[in-house]
Formats: sequence, C-alpha cells, structure tokens
Amino acid sequence: MMVLDFLVKKDELGVTRLRETPPQTIGEGQIRLRVEKFALTANNITYAAFGDAMNYWGFYPAESGWGQIPVWGFASVIESRCPGIEPGERFYGYYPMSNQVILQPKRLAPAGFMEGAEHRATLHAVYNNYTRCGTDPFHDPTTEDAEAILRPLFTTSWLIDDFMADNAFFGATATGTGLVMLSSASSKTAYGTAFQLARRKGIELVGLTSTANAGFCRSLGCYQRVLGYDALDQLAADASAIYIDFAGNAALRKTIHSRFENLKYSSSIGGTHVEQLGGARDLPGPRPVLFFAPAQIKKRSTEWGAEVLGRRLLESWREFIGTACRPTEPWLIIEHHRGADAVTAAYALVLSGRDDPRRGRMLSLANPAA
Ligand SMILES: NC(=O)c1ccc[n+]([C@@H]2O[C@H](COP(=O)([O-])OP(=O)(O)OC[C@H]3O[C@@H](n4cnc5c(N)ncnc54)[C@H](OP(=O)(O)O)[C@@H]3O)[C@@H](O)[C@H]2O)c1
Repeated sequence: MMVLDFLVKKDELGVTRLRETPPQTIGEGQIRLRVEKFALTANNITYAAFGDAMNYWGFYPAESGWGQIPVWGFASVIESRCPGIEPGERFYGYYPMSNQVILQPKRLAPAGFMEGAEHRATLHAVYNNYTRCGTDPFHDPTTEDAEAILRPLFTTSWLIDDFMADNAFFGATATGTGLVMLSSASSKTAYGTAFQLARRKGIELVGLTSTANAGFCRSLGCYQRVLGYDALDQLAADASAIYIDFAGNAALRKTIHSRFENLKYSSSIGGTHVEQLGGARDLPGPRPVLFFAPAQIKKRSTEWGAEVLGRRLLESWREFIGTACRPTEPWLIIEHHRGADAVTAAYALVLSGRDDPRRGRMLSLANPAA
C-alpha cells in the first residue's frame, strides 16, 4: 500500500498536494501505524500559521517549502519491531495528515509510549506522548471522534479556567463583577473555557464572535452575553475586565485594550483570525501574555500531585463531553471526510474560517478496506 501524505505550502496554506510514496522498511524498535482518522479544527491551522516560529513543522518534516500539519487522532499498529507493542493495538496521539506513519517508541508503559525519533527530541513532550486506547481512562469508544476533536482543546480550556481562578482573576473580581471577554467565542477551545468558567463566581462571561456565529454561541448557554466584534460599546468602558484572546486579531486586541481602562489581564491563547494576526506593539494597558499550558500543568502537578490533577481533569472532561455530545441539541455534530478529495475539501473549509461552528470534522486518508 502506498503512503499518502497531505502536504501544504508553508507560505501559502491554501495550496496543498497529496504525496504518494512507496512504504519504507521499518527498522529495529520501530512500529508502523495505520492512521485511521484524525480531527481538523482551527487549532491545526494555527499549528501551520506558526509552523516556523514554533516548530510545528518539525514533527513530520517534508521537502523544502512544504509542511505536514500535525493532527490529533487514532492509529492502529500494523507492523511492529518493538517488543511490548503488538499489531492491532490502538493509540491516541499526534499524527501526520497521512494514511500511515512510522514511529520509534521509547519509555514503554501500560499507559503508552513516548516517541523517540531523534528529530523530535527537542519538541515538547506533550506532543510526543502516545496513549494506549485500551488503558486510557479518557477513552470511550462510543465518543472517540469527539475525543479526537475536543480532548486536546479542552485540556487547554480547563487549564485557562484553573489559571484565572488560581490568580483570583487578576483582581478583576475584587470590587464587584468582573467582565471576562473571550474572542472567537464559537471556537471549541473558547466554549470549553466558558463551560468551566461559568461555574466561577463574580464574573460575567462575554463571548465575542462574528455576526454569523452569534446565534450558535447563544445556543450554548455558557456565555452570559454574546456580542458581535463591532458591539463592544455595549460594555461599560470602566468595568474591571480580562481579555482571553483566541482570535489573535490585532485590530480587535487594540480596540479592547484602548476601550477598557481597567483591563487587568490580557491572555493570548490562539490565532483563529489568521488573516488579521499582528504584533502587540504600542498597546495601551497590560502587556498580552502568551498562555503556556505546560506551566500550569507543572504548577498543579507540584501542588496537587499528578494523580489528583489527572482525576480532576478527567471528572471535568466527562461532564464536558457529556454536554457537548448530548443526544438533544449537542454542541458538536461530527462529520466524516474520507479519501483524498474529501480531506482536501474539508481542509479548505476549515482554513476558510467559514465553517459551521457546530461541526466537528473527522478526516481519513486510510483505505477503509485495509
Ligand atoms: N495555546 C494553546 O495551548 C492552545 C490550545 C488549543 C487551542 N488553541 C487555540 O485556540 C484557537 C481555537 O482553536 P479551535 O480548534 O478550538 O477552533 P475551532 O473550533 O475550529 O474555531 C472555529 C472558529 O474560529 C474562528 N475562525 C476560524 N477560522 C477563521 C478564519 N480563517 N477567519 C476568521 N475566523 C476564523 C471562527 O470563530 P468566530 O467567528 O467566533 O471568531 C470559527 O467559528 C486556535 O487559535 C488554537 O490554536 C491554543
């Protein structure tokens, strides 16, 4: 079976191609996995947009000028020269947009393994961790598509909420109700954050979104107010406020920093508005701080221990996925896109930013008969 890799032009993300190559022989200690299916959201587009700056292209390097976007999904072992990993085993992890991949497991454990290829040694551990579906407490085969889509996003959402509460909302709640504004409120990471923050006292959650997605954001019920990007004047300019920025839109950031004289904290999470990204120079108010999820994980692991941290995250995850995937009015409706043409079309849709926010896209380049 030929290896199919979906490549994008690094400096022109709308240009894509499918690379077909014969499979390589696997070496001692390696495994070959069939990449069964993977999720695609704006988060993956951000990986590509920051591919050079943050080395996301380094996970699955391609020929000059081209990149392979990493994605979260499921793969099963089809060939193993690694003792302790058997053909047929399934793993959740960080894969290329491909139909198969060769990995080099190290530090095998009942929970999974770490990828040991030399070119990934300097890349962050969270992306090098592969989890055995059979032993993973987060894994539920009945909701595994939603798991591929939401799990990496919700972990960040949960940590943002924990970080804000841990820092007493940077004083925004000290003298009354603090405004917590989230941009790209229709994004899965933003609404996961709102889902968590909605339980906190002393804050008013304001979802900022594009006109087309305002109805969706209101339907979720986790934002107390939903406003279009052009309706910031409906919020009191002297309110104590926090900005949690998923959009990365430089003009919007400047408007918010200029309007809210009591802006206590400005947190940069993402860059969904890929066409409007920009620096933060000459900005009034607090300097935007890039949210670094691993730092909060480390802090809580030290304070609570890894087991307690894992248990709390798991409890929240179960509640969240229960809501997002509930039978009536689910927040997320999964759509599958199988084969090269369907994958290319789904990628173009997600890249365009015009997708229905209620859709969760699961893609596959694997041959269903294999
Ligand atoms: N720092 C971290 O650790 C971390 C972890 C996870 C996610 N994130 C970031 O959080 C952001 C959200 O990711 P997600 O996967 O949750 O997104 P998603 O659910 O796919 O978000 C879709 C929404 O993003 C906005 N959007 C997407 N593409 C756009 C475009 N080209 N132009 C304008 N708006 C666009 C739209 O929201 P609106 O109409 O509401 O603006 C759209 O409804 C990403 O930037 C991601 O990188 C960061």
